[in-house]
Amino acid sequence: MVQSDMQRVVIMTGATSGFGARTLEVISTQPNTRVIIGARGSGRTAPPGVEIIPLDLESLTSVREFAHAVRRQLGDTRIDILLLNAGIRGSDAGQRSAEGYGLTFAVNHLAHYLLARLLLPCITDGGRLVITSSNMHNPPIKRIAPKKLDLEEWAHPTENGSGTGIRSYVVSKLCNLMTALSFARLEEVKARQISVIAFNPGLTGGVSGRDASALQKTFFWLLAHTIFPLVGLFRPEFVMNTPDHSGKKLADVAVGTIVPPPGRIYVSLLKGKPTFPDPSELARNREAQDRLWCESAVMVGLPIDLDQ
Ligand SMILES: NC(=O)c1ccc[n+]([C@@H]2O[C@H](COP(=O)([O-])OP(=O)(O)OC[C@H]3O[C@@H](n4cnc5c(N)ncnc54)[C@H](OP(=O)(O)O)[C@@H]3O)[C@@H](O)[C@H]2O)c1
Repeated sequence: MVQSDMQRVVIMTGATSGFGARTLEVISTQPNTRVIIGARGSGRTAPPGVEIIPLDLESLTSVREFAHAVRRQLGDTRIDILLLNAGIRGSDAGQRSAEGYGLTFAVNHLAHYLLARLLLPCITDGGRLVITSSNMHNPPIKRIAPKKLDLEEWAHPTENGSGTGIRSYVVSKLCNLMTALSFARLEEVKARQISVIAFNPGLTGGVSGRDASALQKTFFWLLAHTIFPLVGLFRPEFVMNTPDHSGKKLADVAVGTIVPPPGRIYVSLLKGKPTFPDPSELARNREAQDRLWCESAVMVGLPIDLDQ
């Protein structure tokens, strides 16, 4: 997988806080590895040697500019690992992206869908595309997870609809997983032996994202220290991981130390250990995957087919 000059090239989002910051630390200290991260604003640091290109996932224009800048910066060099990890935890109906879409749907799903499509041609044969999802996409694990697509509501949320609050988060993580499954089915991806993986870090402590409100942070801290340890005794998917642990596991997935068995693309940490379960029934539905792909293409202004 590593290119002939032996330098591995990694492009990453969501590397500036949470467990992604740990993943970045692990990957960027590996030998012969060049890492470029997309990051917004100020007040975050990156390990020495890591290149930073501005990226605000709230804006599809910014995503296009980022992809353009990456291509310009890399020239003929190919990407070995495209690691899409950024995410926010839910938004109200009034919170919209630059293009007017529901914020969580736009940041977590649409922006990454666009970025993956724009950079797919730059991924080297045998390279890897990793998208962070969540087991919360799955109704048996999270009761409010969707059983059918409601794209109009998710893209243009209405007050208390399924595109708002924690439901907007769960929906976006479903879209991440379905997008990964769709990429894995593409002829180009199969022909060029690009591995596509959806990653679930499991509940991972430390709400450090700057979009999380003080209330969200406090609420999560309380859950993490009271309810989850109790629930985790009976429901292993609610056992907490640390950012250090999930970050290292994501790095393992990215560099190929953890590889799903043939035919599987979903790596889910359960009690901290990688498992390879079935995604939810809806996520596996090919008709639904195709609908999400096509409608997302229209929303981001790309052709539906890759060859167009
Ligand atoms: N933590 C969990 O329990 C858990 C469980 C399942 C799945 N996940 C998923 O794992 C991923 C990381 O979660 P985390 O808990 O480590 O998150 P986090 O600490 O909140 O970090 C989120 C990352 O996304 C970046 N980001 C957010 N909005 C952005 C934007 N508009 N433009 C560019 N970058 C943006 C943040 O950048 P800034 O530094 O600029 O804020 C940060 O690097 C997310 O996709 C999340 O959905 C987390």
